[in-house]
Amino acid sequence: MAECCCKKPVTVTVTGAAGNIGYALLFRIASGAMLGPDQPVKLNLLEIPQAVKAAEGTAMELNDSAFPLLAGVDIYDDPNQAFAGCSYGLLVGARPRSKGMERADLLAANGGIFGPQGKAINDNAADDIRVLVVGNPANTNAYIAAKSAPDVPAERFTAMMRLDHNRAISQLAEKTGAAVKDIKKMIVWGNHSADQYPDLTFATVDGKPAPGLVDEAWLDDYFVPTVAKRGAAIIEARGASSAASAASAAIDHMHTWALGTPEGDWSTFAGPSHGEYGVPEGLIYGMPVICKDGQYQVVEGLELPEKTKQHIVANAKAAEEEIATVKELGIL
Ligand code: NAD
Ligand code: LMR
Repeated sequence: MAECCCKKPVTVTVTGAAGNIGYALLFRIASGAMLGPDQPVKLNLLEIPQAVKAAEGTAMELNDSAFPLLAGVDIYDDPNQAFAGCSYGLLVGARPRSKGMERADLLAANGGIFGPQGKAINDNAADDIRVLVVGNPANTNAYIAAKSAPDVPAERFTAMMRLDHNRAISQLAEKTGAAVKDIKKMIVWGNHSADQYPDLTFATVDGKPAPGLVDEAWLDDYFVPTVAKRGAAIIEARGASSAASAASAAIDHMHTWALGTPEGDWSTFAGPSHGEYGVPEGLIYGMPVICKDGQYQVVEGLELPEKTKQHIVANAKAAEEEIATVKELGIL
């Protein structure tokens, strides 16, 4: 392993390390894409016992890459050990959706993973722990993990909406012929599910308001459903759920959280609501955020169109129903 003489290493724990997203994610974390070119990382990989051998193969490849920022790799099948001293937890390990499956079908399979992991984080992680849940249904799993970690501030548990945010930017860039880098202030409200609401009301394209550049029919009939159902479209095309784009979005999410949103822009995070925009308190819900100094703050005070408000209410109801199902299943 090559040495880097900069900051003290931080521990990053990745669950589901031997999976498809894990394979696309770990090398970018080790390269510095997530926490910056001067931040060494110690990687803790968590897997189920049957997949530890595959994780060992990935660890061999990580070491063979001689990343100057990689301060070590350890593999565990015990969450308490994997989260010991962890500052950044990426909770990826869970079963993905296959063709025809809906998110609710995943609840019974995956919900049970996130309670024990939340508890392990509560008992073992570093005081500055920040958690991103990627494993689906991500918002509900983040809710379960947060509830199982009463000593960790709830806002440290987030679910990934950045993939949806990036998908929305990509669709708008394609429609307007603009460069992705010139699109700012996108929002995706809600849950990482087909009833999320991608919203370009406040977005700008090269400084111009986005709503003036696209028509209502494209918005309602193409943009919103294309972004919201993109996960299913990728499963249909690839025969497997998105992996590299999900890993890339996870890198973007943590990078933004640790190092801040660019001036004049915001991102979408799903953290626990404080009642902003009428979203029930505690629900892990996608909203626009600005990140600074390692904290994220919801962008408040936006004047929302009536249609957006209706989507927020409907989506919050769907998210609450998922939590009710979790309670019925005895997971919480
Ligand atoms: P995968 O099947 O390739 O890998 C999942 C890995 O998780 C496997 O190696 C498995 O052994 C491991 N795992 C299972 N239970 C575990 C546990 N209790 N502890 C540690 N590891 C465990 O799946 P993938 O393609 O990498 O996808 C992982 C998850 O991410 C799925 O739930 C998928 O639906 C979700 N996903 C979310 C988004 C998003 O935007 N939130 C996007 C894409 C995929
Ligand atoms: C995605 O959005 O690509 C993933 O969450 C996979 C899925 O099941 O939709």
